[in-house]
Parts: sequence; structure tokens; C-alpha cells
Amino acid sequence: MSRIAYVNGKYQPHRTAAVHIEDRGYQFADGVYEVVPVQNGKLIDEELHLDRLEFSLGELEIAAPMDRRALKLVLREVLRRNGVARGILYMQVTRGVAPRNHAFPVMARPALVITCKRLKPVPAKYLEEGVGVITLPDLRWKRCDIKTIGLLANVLGKQRASEEGAYEAWQIDPEGNVTEGTSTNAWIVTKDRKIVTRPLGHEILPGVTRRALLALLEATDFTLDERSFSLDEALAASEAFLTSSSVFLLPITRIDGKKVGNGKPGDLSKKLRQLYLDHAERQASAA
Ligand code: PDD
Repeated sequence: MSRIAYVNGKYQPHRTAAVHIEDRGYQFADGVYEVVPVQNGKLIDEELHLDRLEFSLGELEIAAPMDRRALKLVLREVLRRNGVARGILYMQVTRGVAPRNHAFPVMARPALVITCKRLKPVPAKYLEEGVGVITLPDLRWKRCDIKTIGLLANVLGKQRASEEGAYEAWQIDPEGNVTEGTSTNAWIVTKDRKIVTRPLGHEILPGVTRRALLALLEATDFTLDERSFSLDEALAASEAFLTSSSVFLLPITRIDGKKVGNGKPGDLSKKLRQLYLDHAERQASAA
């Protein structure tokens, strides 16, 4: 089945789909996006992703390209036309096409692009051995809670990580605390088995996987401590892990080349991954 993209009202072959050169997303990164997991052809936590999309649009004063009901129909049509069982759906809304000028255009209509792609299962090695992260100063702007397509610092961070053989880069704020990864939220488990993740604020993206996991934790007897944690604390932790819509939860076993805990994926990380997988599976197998 060949890939189909939705571009401003039209379903087009992915390979030739294009937007205008004066799209403000292209010129100014003036837009927002969402990445939604697809499992068994179903969108996981769709409403939470649409809530966040609306929040991001609202913060940037970009009009919604259509109402939520219509958007959900388009999302389903993109899924159907691409026949993706397990993967991700990507949607991007920009302020639209207008002659280049920093201030908002008066006439532009928001531009909507939606694509969908298959994802290979997470490599067994990542789960058996865990992944490594490096750390870098957080160079991003002061509204990281908005899911904008302006991702240059994230791109540079991920590139550094991959050059250094790591999976992700944890970004560190001026106080020495971990904000988040370049495309993932950051977590540790302390020696006394408290699960620690930074509270929401302008410094991190309100991850949907993070939010779903926090809700799942409420039904367990694990202890959550929602607070900032420093790099030193992460290095002394017994476990660390990351969450995102594309990989769900991956154990971290090295930070800047140093072992986390005993250097093997922790048992709590494994349990929490399973907790999230069961949550996704419940939605994937619902009628
Ligand atoms: N990234 N933090 C950042 C900076 C992110 O870009 C992401 C998501 C997350 C995790 O959020 P969620 O659980 O909602 O996926 C945290 C997506 C997957 C991406 O850019 O590809």
C-alpha cells in the first residue's frame, strides 16, 4: 500500500505531496504538531493529543483548521488510506501561506498536513540492555510546553547524542536540573523507589505518555514524587527511563557514559513499560 498524505483538504501520494514555499511553517517555524501512536490501526490517547494540539494552537493564536469532529474524521481517513497497523500519525498546523513578514498575516488560513507511517517494533536490545543518554545545556526558548515545529535545539541535541552513540540527550537547565530529552520526557527512580519526574511548566512538553503513565500510577502502590531532579541525583538513581509516543517507555542504563544503578534495565522501569503497554492495548483492542 503506497503512502498517502493529507495536505490542506487533499489526499496526495506522500512522495509528491508538498506545501507552498511561503508557508510560515517553512519560513518561521510558525506552527505546531502532534505525534500520535497507532496500534492495531487505532489512535492511542487521541483526545489527549487533540487537547494538546488545541492548547498549542491557542497559545500561538493560530486558528484551528477545522473543528475536532471533522479533524477526527480526517485522521481516520488518513489511517484507512495508509493501512498502518502499528506506527505513528503526524499532524502539523501552520499559520498558513503569506508573503514573508514576521507579524501575523491578516488573510492566511491555517495549513494542515497529516501523514502516517509504519514503525518497526522497538529493538529488543533497547529493552534488554537499556539505552544511553548524554547531557547538554538546555538551549531552547521559554515556552517548551507548546509543541511547536521550531525544534532546532532539539535537532542539534539529538544529533550530538547520535554522534556519541547515545539514544537521547537530556537537557539541563541553568540550576543543574534535567528538563527533558529532545523528544522524550525524563524520569528517574530513587534508591528508596520513588518515581521522580519534573512537574509541568514552561520548561517541558506536557507529554501525553507522561500524563497517561501518571494516571496509571494512581491505581498502583508505587510512590510518585513530581519534582525537578538534578543531574547528580540522576547519576545516583537506581533507575532512569524516558517516555514518548513513538517508543512508549525505554529504560536508560547510561548517563554520560556512567552506569545507572547496576547498569541493567530496572524492574520498576519494566513494570511501568508493561503498565503503559496494557493501557495502549486496551484502546487498540476496543471495538
Ligand atoms: N516527541 N518532550 C519533547 C520535547 C517531545 O518532543 C516529546 C514528543 C515528548 C514526549 O511527549 P509524548 O509522550 O506526548 O509523545 C517530550 C514526539 C514523539 C516527536 O517529536 O517525534
